[in-house]
Amino acid sequence: MSEYIIKGGKKISGEICISGSKNAALPIIAASILNSGKTTLYNVPDIHDTQMMYEILKRLGASVTKKKNKVIIDSSRINCYEIPEDLMRQMRSSVIFVGSLLGKYKKATFSYPGGCDIGTRPIDLHLKVFEKLGINIGKNYGNISCSCDKIIGEKIDLDFPSVGATENAILASCLAEGTTIITNAAREPEIIDLQNFLNKMGAKIKGAGSNQIEIKGVKTLKDVGYNVMPDRIETGTFLCLAAMTNGKITLKNANSNHITPVIDKLEEAGCKIIIQKNEIEIDAPKKLKAVNIKTMPYPGFPTDMQSIVATAMTIAKGTSIIVENIFENRYKYTQELIRMGAKINVEGKTAVIKGVRKLYGANVKATDLRGGASLVLAAACAKGTTKIENIEYILRGYEKFDYKLQQLGVNIIVK
Ligand code: EPZ
Repeated sequence: MSEYIIKGGKKISGEICISGSKNAALPIIAASILNSGKTTLYNVPDIHDTQMMYEILKRLGASVTKKKNKVIIDSSRINCYEIPEDLMRQMRSSVIFVGSLLGKYKKATFSYPGGCDIGTRPIDLHLKVFEKLGINIGKNYGNISCSCDKIIGEKIDLDFPSVGATENAILASCLAEGTTIITNAAREPEIIDLQNFLNKMGAKIKGAGSNQIEIKGVKTLKDVGYNVMPDRIETGTFLCLAAMTNGKITLKNANSNHITPVIDKLEEAGCKIIIQKNEIEIDAPKKLKAVNIKTMPYPGFPTDMQSIVATAMTIAKGTSIIVENIFENRYKYTQELIRMGAKINVEGKTAVIKGVRKLYGANVKATDLRGGASLVLAAACAKGTTKIENIEYILRGYEKFDYKLQQLGVNIIVK
């Protein structure tokens, strides 16, 4: 397993370009099944999770050619409708292929994705969506088989604004007979990107970004080219890196509209943030002020930024209260931060963080994608050297992470 070695304490400066969004790219890659033709995607992040998606597409019979951040997918020769169990277990978000396979071929078989590093991650809401659309669901020994003769549009009310369940409902309804209306839909920007992509293919979808989405079924979908939106969580990650290191950086190809709750919190903590067209400049104070955070579904404060902003609070002046309302097990990283000198007390959904003067280098282990990124930020501002193991977690969601950090002056090497 690879590891990062980071020598902390340097003030960072300079500029980097934000990559395409992992969480927009994954459902869009799955949606390429729907046109049984050619899909050309640009600005796709070259990360572990997108590579896994290409692997699944190839196992289903599609062809994939990738050149850096441009990917060409030909889904005209798909002849398998079963998501490989080994890949499903490695990446639970591959459940997003089910909506596409059902939408196009009216059948899909997959294994329970199982929990992951941040919670049990059930798929009950996804299954409820499929049942509502008249899909028969058989379960045996951990495998789920879905099939139907045709899909008729329906009204679907989600118990919780689940991002994945909203995306699967859209994918399964694009080629249905009649109209599907999703209420209590997730409002994340990645769902707007999926709608824009599908409408470019010839779908008839409106309302993404609101809590009600309408999908008018069409007969066929055509070849398409599309540019994936920038990654709002990568943007927030680098803003917090600057905030923690008294840094001054500029992020290019960033969309500030997607992360206003994070920008608001960093300004409350004392950062100066200037927003140009698709650039964000941050100038951090010597010492951050403590802020409180409550994670909520979009447009509330994003759960994916919880560990990252909480890490910035470990060296802020004052005490911060963090409440994680989305996932039940998203504080594992705090144990690693405590090894670096952080003062954090976790009780259930709440973490109380008492700011310390500084953090100290230590040997730590990444516990999940965003928790791992948080440890990198902690190491960049700590006194001394930090070794971070299990960085494969981080490589799942951050493209050229060590290269971008080095560009900003962080003393990091990969072993
Ligand atoms: C997406 O996951 C993102 N992943 C996650 O980002 C993100 O944290 C999450 O949305 C919330 O914003 C991708 O887009 C690939 P959910 P998803 O369904 O769709 C519960 C990252 O770091 N739930 O909105 O799986 C679930 O357990 C990743 O990039 C059910 O109970 O999230 C969780 O508590 C991590 N039943 C809550 O809903 C279901 O059937 C939110 O889950 C589905 C979800």
